[in-house]
Amino acid sequence: MKPQPTVANMHLSISFLLTALLAFTNVVKAETGIAEVMSALYIDNRDLQCDRIHIGKDFIYLSPSEEITNTTAWSQVVEGPDLTSKYNVRSGDRIRVTYKNTTNSTTGSRRLLLTPDEDLVSIDVLQTAVPHEIFTGTQIRVRSMIYIIKTCGWEASANVTQIQNMYFQAANSISGYHTNCTYGKVTFNSSDSIVFGPVEVPCNGTVSNGILTYNFDASINCGSAEQFAWRTYAENAARAAGHGAFMDAAPRRRIVHILPREVKCPWAGLGSVGCGGSTCTVYIKGAYALSLTVNMHELGHTQGLSHAGRGYDEYGDYSDVMGTASSEGYLCMNVGNQFRVGWNTMLANLNTVTTNNPGNTGLVGRWVIPATNLTENNALFLNYSTPTVRFPNMFVSFRTRGPLYDNVMPTNLMDQVFVHQFNGTASERDYNRTLLVATLVTNGVYTSPFVDRYPDTTSGGGVKIRVVSITPGVSATVQLCHFTQLNETTCNDGIDNDCDGIIDNCVPPASVSPVVYSSPQLSSLSPTPTPPPPSPPLRSPPKSPPSPPPSPAPRPPPKSPPSPPPSPAPRPPPKSPPIPKLKSPLPRPSPRRPPPSPRPPKASPPPRPSVRKPPPKSTATSRPPPS
Ligand SMILES: *[C@@H]1O[C@H](CO)[C@@H](O)[C@H](O)[C@H]1NC(C)=O
Ligand SMILES: *[C@@H]1O[C@H](CO)[C@@H](O)[C@H](O)[C@H]1NC(C)=O
Ligand SMILES: *[C@@H]1O[C@H](CO)[C@@H](O)[C@H](O)[C@H]1NC(C)=O
Ligand SMILES: *[C@@H]1O[C@H](CO)[C@@H](O)[C@H](O)[C@H]1NC(C)=O
Ligand SMILES: *[C@@H]1O[C@H](CO)[C@@H](O)[C@H](O)[C@H]1NC(C)=O
Ligand SMILES: *[C@@H]1O[C@H](CO)[C@@H](O)[C@H](O)[C@H]1NC(C)=O
Ligand SMILES: *[C@@H]1O[C@H](CO)[C@@H](O)[C@H](O)[C@H]1NC(C)=O
Ligand SMILES: *[C@@H]1O[C@H](CO)[C@@H](O)[C@H](O)[C@H]1NC(C)=O
Ligand SMILES: *[C@@H]1O[C@H](CO)[C@@H](O)[C@H](O)[C@H]1NC(C)=O
Ligand SMILES: *[C@@H]1O[C@H](CO)[C@@H](O)[C@H](O)[C@H]1NC(C)=O
Ligand SMILES: *[C@@H]1O[C@H](CO)[C@@H](O)[C@H](O)[C@H]1NC(C)=O
Ligand SMILES: *[C@@H]1O[C@H](CO)[C@@H](O)[C@H](O)[C@H]1NC(C)=O
Repeated sequence: MKPQPTVANMHLSISFLLTALLAFTNVVKAETGIAEVMSALYIDNRDLQCDRIHIGKDFIYLSPSEEITNTTAWSQVVEGPDLTSKYNVRSGDRIRVTYKNTTNSTTGSRRLLLTPDEDLVSIDVLQTAVPHEIFTGTQIRVRSMIYIIKTCGWEASANVTQIQNMYFQAANSISGYHTNCTYGKVTFNSSDSIVFGPVEVPCNGTVSNGILTYNFDASINCGSAEQFAWRTYAENAARAAGHGAFMDAAPRRRIVHILPREVKCPWAGLGSVGCGGSTCTVYIKGAYALSLTVNMHELGHTQGLSHAGRGYDEYGDYSDVMGTASSEGYLCMNVGNQFRVGWNTMLANLNTVTTNNPGNTGLVGRWVIPATNLTENNALFLNYSTPTVRFPNMFVSFRTRGPLYDNVMPTNLMDQVFVHQFNGTASERDYNRTLLVATLVTNGVYTSPFVDRYPDTTSGGGVKIRVVSITPGVSATVQLCHFTQLNETTCNDGIDNDCDGIIDNCVPPASVSPVVYSSPQLSSLSPTPTPPPPSPPLRSPPKSPPSPPPSPAPRPPPKSPPSPPPSPAPRPPPKSPPIPKLKSPLPRPSPRRPPPSPRPPKASPPPRPSVRKPPPKSTATSRPPPS
């Protein structure tokens, strides 16, 4: 989505064109400095051409000095979607930016490149930021200066009391958000923060920090110059008021600006991705000044988190504040995002072979997953990737609505089993998005993508996840089954190769709901009504990676995986596809032979499968679910 060109940047473009005509081409110039990567939350702006689907936008700013301090200025290098993947830059990195030298002026004209890309030749990371937002055993104390900005004759959008209340005192607060959603691993205490303001910033003028000088005009623009002016005036005012010692002694300092309603910013909020230097920056537009979830969304970016998507909507996960919160309150991060920042631990890491081992119930493939609000040990991690087969990594969790955790989980999502894809790692440089691929109620089934590696059972294949039962507010019991064939063709190996619940059943079961088999990438099989956002249709089923011949040398994973959705103009998806519904639990054809024999008695768990032999295949669907 393209922001409206403002008068200011049109003006800049015109003068730029004039100088470009006179300038030499094919000459480059470079600037070195510290990167600030910003991610915008476009809450109001859905792209009409993309069927009102949210598309995010990033900005990369450059501070041409060795470290980010209060005297550092920035200018915009580039803006657009998915810049972190495109340039692999993170906040706090030292970078070299190379431009086409389309102007020969050397004096005073650091260019504010408001029109992206054309002049940018490359961004090279010279030195990566020192990571420090991921929990590794020591409680992380977040500090902040929160400024209320007044400018251009526009009123402040909130007063200090209101902001203090929202951040630290209300029944649901930013402080509580941090403590509760991180299981106490991150604190955002009032004793570590100062709310300051209102700070009166001139509407236009020149802002300088001794290194760079910018003209800004907030009455018509909301670019990097205006943002820099707000930050500079606010920081100087706070220092003048005696807060300098606190500010200088506060690593991980979030500099939050609460802006007037009328500012010309196209986003609801803008936040640094990570807090890689000693500070990071957040802007909140006035209409959202008192929105707990917009403030938390931006602060989530400062933790290093990306968006939580569903389908083609980058913000389409309504179970995560990094997606879309449909009401104000606690909507904690999904288990993939929690994994990214080290807030949760896994019940198990499963691969293709261990999926069919006994779960924590003692039964093959069967797991009890506690609600995320009860424990940080809250997810199953399914990693089927090998050096030769790329497979989406999956996280299975159970979400409910607790009084201080997920208390605004939408009704049609609560007490359900969630399946998320998240390919990232708990690494500061990781900016993978989570993707919600299924929400399941009892008897709901998710069938993963399938990679045909038969008869190899140690890689590829797919997984079926069936919800056996749910105890609302407490836990869910799920049945996992790794399958190696879509339709069983080996009818006498004593294995249920396709996880249809029947060993050696080679007859395509008549009662099979085709959706279970035909669509390797299901968005949802929940028999409940669709969540409020129209579940975004898939443009086309993502291709399962073709199974390459096993190569002796492990193929390194691609640097940046294909970013999920958006080309600027994706084919408009069909309006509202019916969500496939599963009428009966899992299709259960009348067995031609008795169901797999070891029907484990309640008292004694089944024998553990031998590690050396392929484990017995699951009997996921051979028993009626507990009523
Ligand atoms: C910030 O600026 C003030 C004056 O504007 C200066 O005294 C102080 O040393 C600066 N701090 C840092 C970390 O640059
Ligand atoms: C750029 O430099 C060239 C010679 O180096 C000069 O002829 C030209 O006028 C200059 N253009 C501008 C806009 O200063
Ligand atoms: C390129 O830009 C530099 C300043 O960044 C300037 O010194 C030089 O003259 C420019 N060269 C040309 C050919 O425009
Ligand atoms: C802050 O704003 C609220 C709501 O407008 C108002 O009730 C309150 O009196 C204000 N507090 C101060 C200290 O101005
Ligand atoms: C959760 O947040 C509330 C404030 O909303 C706070 O009172 C409570 O102590 C927090 N709980 C935990 C476990 O941190
Ligand atoms: C603030 O943070 C510290 C740890 O950094 C924690 O022990 C304390 O309980 C927190 N809460 C308050 C209100 O200080
Ligand atoms: C700058 O803002 C002042 C009011 O704050 C206004 O009078 C003046 O015209 C503005 N200047 C420009 C160049 O827009
Ligand atoms: C997934 O498994 C592969 C192969 O075992 C391993 O190289 C990779 O690090 C794992 N990924 C994560 C996120 O743990
Ligand atoms: C995860 O990786 C797989 C395999 O490369 C890819 O098909 C899938 O789209 C990725 N998913 C996400 C959410 O990045
Ligand atoms: C978790 O949610 C359940 C269901 O609302 C609730 O009974 C329980 O008290 C919650 N526990 C915590 C620690 O939030
Ligand atoms: C996503 O995760 C993969 C695997 O860890 C990594 O190679 C890739 O760089 C990540 N992508 C982004 C945008 O961080
Ligand atoms: C599997 O069987 C279904 C019918 O049950 C059929 O539509 C599908 O094409 C078969 N798939 C393969 C790979 O044979």
